[in-house]
Amino acid sequence: MSSAPHDRLLIIDFGSQVTQLIARRLRELSVYCEIHPYQSVTDTFIEDFAPKAIIFSGGPCSVIDEGSPRPPANVYDLGIPILGICYGQQVMMQMLGGRVERGHGTAEFGRAYVTPGDTSLDVLDGWFGEGDEQVWMSHGDHVADIAPGFQVYGTSPNAPYAITADTERNFYAVQFHPEVHHTPKGAKLYENFVRLAGFSGDWTMASYREEAVQRIKEQVGDAKVICALSGGVDSSVAAALIHEAIGEQLTCVFVDHGLLRLNEADEVVTMFRDHMNLSVIHAEEQELFLGELDGVSDPETKRKIIGKLFIDVFQKYADQIEGAAFLAQGTLYPDVIESVSFSGGPSVTIKSHHNVGGLPEKMGLKLVEPLRELFKDEVRALGRELGLPAHFIGRHPFPGPGLAIRCPGEITREKLDILRKADAVYIDQIRKHGLYDEIWQAFAAILPVRTVGVMGDGRTYDYSCALRAVTSVDGMTADYYPFSHEFLGETATRIINEVQGINRVFYDVTSKPPGTIEME
Ligand code: XMP
Repeated sequence: MSSAPHDRLLIIDFGSQVTQLIARRLRELSVYCEIHPYQSVTDTFIEDFAPKAIIFSGGPCSVIDEGSPRPPANVYDLGIPILGICYGQQVMMQMLGGRVERGHGTAEFGRAYVTPGDTSLDVLDGWFGEGDEQVWMSHGDHVADIAPGFQVYGTSPNAPYAITADTERNFYAVQFHPEVHHTPKGAKLYENFVRLAGFSGDWTMASYREEAVQRIKEQVGDAKVICALSGGVDSSVAAALIHEAIGEQLTCVFVDHGLLRLNEADEVVTMFRDHMNLSVIHAEEQELFLGELDGVSDPETKRKIIGKLFIDVFQKYADQIEGAAFLAQGTLYPDVIESVSFSGGPSVTIKSHHNVGGLPEKMGLKLVEPLRELFKDEVRALGRELGLPAHFIGRHPFPGPGLAIRCPGEITREKLDILRKADAVYIDQIRKHGLYDEIWQAFAAILPVRTVGVMGDGRTYDYSCALRAVTSVDGMTADYYPFSHEFLGETATRIINEVQGINRVFYDVTSKPPGTIEME
């Protein structure tokens, strides 16, 4: 838990798919909040956390069922505002003396319209416009009787108690989800709620930077820290922040596995070493990685080889740094939120992702994770605050195994060189057309087939490349980016003219699922 000296809001998670969005909406209002699963929220937990307000999330259970999730009963005696969302509304009603009924034809999923009640309500200031307001519903059960002290402020066809409140006690409860995009005025409801709860909006990146620097100094003391710098946004921002806190006590190791993009290693090392004065070890291990990958074509085997070598190499260089006691990691908040799992079972491994997990224990290092409280876009904001260049902060994600998974089949140096050039032309095209920031991730891949072409008066027999560009929010699902035919035609011409070794270009129009973003 954070020791940030901010007004704090506690979100009790009952397992909704969209609980993280509540936190996003609040952070956008400069309110510091944390999500905790209902099982870990005990009386003492709440006392330590000292929230200024609490939000109950939605969730998949039915409050009517025996043993269904509950907040601790004394939350209602804390004298602080509470907002219940969907399941959160139902649990509040049930615990305070109201009644919840099962669906029986009154379930609502998707868009619904809420009609205002007769009385105005402070959390609804500026909410209802001309008439009914669109909201997003997702409930099977519904509140049949509201608890004593509550009044109704909005109804929908299947949720007579769409908006309810006990204004004496500052308890608010809504059946819909104000955190999702399809409740267009949802953010306004959160804004009103935190305003009436007295939040001052003191969670800013400037203050976060100062406090984080302080915390790092306290945690590390005069020990040394090592950081695996990948050049990605997370490790870069973490390194810049830690460097601000402890200067030369930080050493970064940049592992060059020979699977990086055109000029990438030079750009990263120059930026951090020469412009930002960080101590960076450029681990040039191309021979090692490409040697071990020689002749390997199975995707999972490639990933395993790279993951293992990465750890070995990192360890080798880290061992040279005398007195290193900490390992820095760019872990983000979505990775640490303990999710409420009702399914229990392990999910299927689609691809084994490559990271340095397990290293700290193996090397006896403690962790410094200064981004643990931040979402991705907050990390970008912090990066800007720390003076990292905008084009760097806004870069598309790049996978740990690098070009290896964009080169299906056997990896050769020749193919990697061709791929690097094709990718550079493609990204240059995207930037020139002003599309880079609209796309979540774009890259070229080299296909393991040669086809016949004709250039000038001669026959060619060269490789093909596939171009990929997707829109996505988190990489979990994705859709292909709808480039114009002109753009695709122009890009294909440029690649074939400028990159020797490619005579055919394909555009990948597969979404995820069923495809994945990377080729392997
Ligand atoms: P897939 O191909 O699984 O990719 O749809 C989803 C996102 O994850 C990235 N990715 C990785 N990132 N290590 C990483 O750090 C990996 O091993 C890895 N594999 C895929 C991919 O680039 C996309 O953004």
